[in-house]
Amino acid sequence: MNRRDFLCATSAAALAPSLSFAAPKTELIAEPVMAQILPEGQPATPSLGFNGGTPGPVLRTRQGEVFDIQFQNRVGEGSAVHWHGVRLTNTMDGVPDLTQEIVETGGDFHYQFRAPDAGTYWYHSHNRSWEQVARGLYGPLIVEETVPPDVDHDFIVMIDDWRVTEDGTLADGFDDMHDQAHQGRLGNYARALIEPRKPVQNGDRVRLRLINVATDRIFPVEIEGVKGKVVAKDGMPLRTPEDALTVILAPAQRVDFIADVTTSDQININFPTQDGAYPLGEISVAGENTKRKSTEISALPPNDVAQPDMDDAVQLTLTMEGGAMSRRMMRGMMSGDVWAFNGKSGLTSKSFHTFERGQTARIRLENDTRFPHGIHLHGHHFYEVESGDGLGDLRDTTLVDAGEARDIICVFDNPGKWLLHCHMLGHQAAGMKTWVEVT
Ligand code: C2O
Ligand code: CU
Repeated sequence: MNRRDFLCATSAAALAPSLSFAAPKTELIAEPVMAQILPEGQPATPSLGFNGGTPGPVLRTRQGEVFDIQFQNRVGEGSAVHWHGVRLTNTMDGVPDLTQEIVETGGDFHYQFRAPDAGTYWYHSHNRSWEQVARGLYGPLIVEETVPPDVDHDFIVMIDDWRVTEDGTLADGFDDMHDQAHQGRLGNYARALIEPRKPVQNGDRVRLRLINVATDRIFPVEIEGVKGKVVAKDGMPLRTPEDALTVILAPAQRVDFIADVTTSDQININFPTQDGAYPLGEISVAGENTKRKSTEISALPPNDVAQPDMDDAVQLTLTMEGGAMSRRMMRGMMSGDVWAFNGKSGLTSKSFHTFERGQTARIRLENDTRFPHGIHLHGHHFYEVESGDGLGDLRDTTLVDAGEARDIICVFDNPGKWLLHCHMLGHQAAGMKTWVEVT
């Protein structure tokens, strides 16, 4: 045992004497895989995945513990893994050219980071992500509460769409400029990948961790056959759980439900459309739980996020520009940079802003385009500002509709260089990204 391992082991032991938390080293191998994306009986899809499958394995630890991951790249081109939503050390953030060197194929990288916040997160490739994520390089990352809520089942529901051809292969054209200038690459087949695959009983209390892993599609999702509440968004517990069984998930957003099963048939996870519900997936119900007493669904324990200091806040504006039907479009078509923030497309040598560690900022996200954008900040969570100026939900990705604006408030307390980009990955590919620095 080297010194660092020893330190990790002893501090874990001090926190929870009765449990052993020595984080085992996990190998995470990115490689080509065959995936049964289309229904059983139809052809399998050549994809990319981790450890033989897509989605990759569920990475799980207890809050405060360390993920110790040996990443190996065997996909045939450079890659790197980003741990979306985890407020981690900058050098572990997985962004080629900003926080680490690209991991060439055949190479590896040792990721080691503490998980400060309990909740639902995910990991995905952050190199040519619009293609590598579309091909399947993603998986769930779960951080358990020190005292987990009382539920009978904990399901991960990853929602994706694919553009597949008749023979099951993914359509190419990942760099298609027309897609990128519009909503991005939208699939022709969508499905929820549910883990574990096992039935529940009527009367059980379940936790459903929804993750939108699609590169570009916004998913409204409706759950049938349960009664319950939204308890967390983007990993962060809501102060007051919300009574809702329909939610909207922008790419990369997560929602946790805790709900009681109220059917003896099946729980349906649907994508409501104008032509009715498109079934994304289901959880079967068998038998009856007669022992569980239905109690209030209470809030999860909050994570420790710094309180903003509004007296000292810096005010900034980030304006989204470009895309189809914009003035920028013609010029952008030539260079591939059809999207921009504040007139600048792609990463520039100067950051969007440099914050002093601990500084609060109020940032106006102005959507001056004809498309919605899901804006993601690395290494931090921020508050969405509500209409009466109150602090709303804590998120790491916020959806701003076409022509609208949203203010966010963030305490920039995590040192390093952090990406700030649209998580419609086709938009990111075509220039909608920048970075901030915290010194
Ligand atoms: Cu989910 Cu920059 O990433
Ligand atoms: Cu966008």
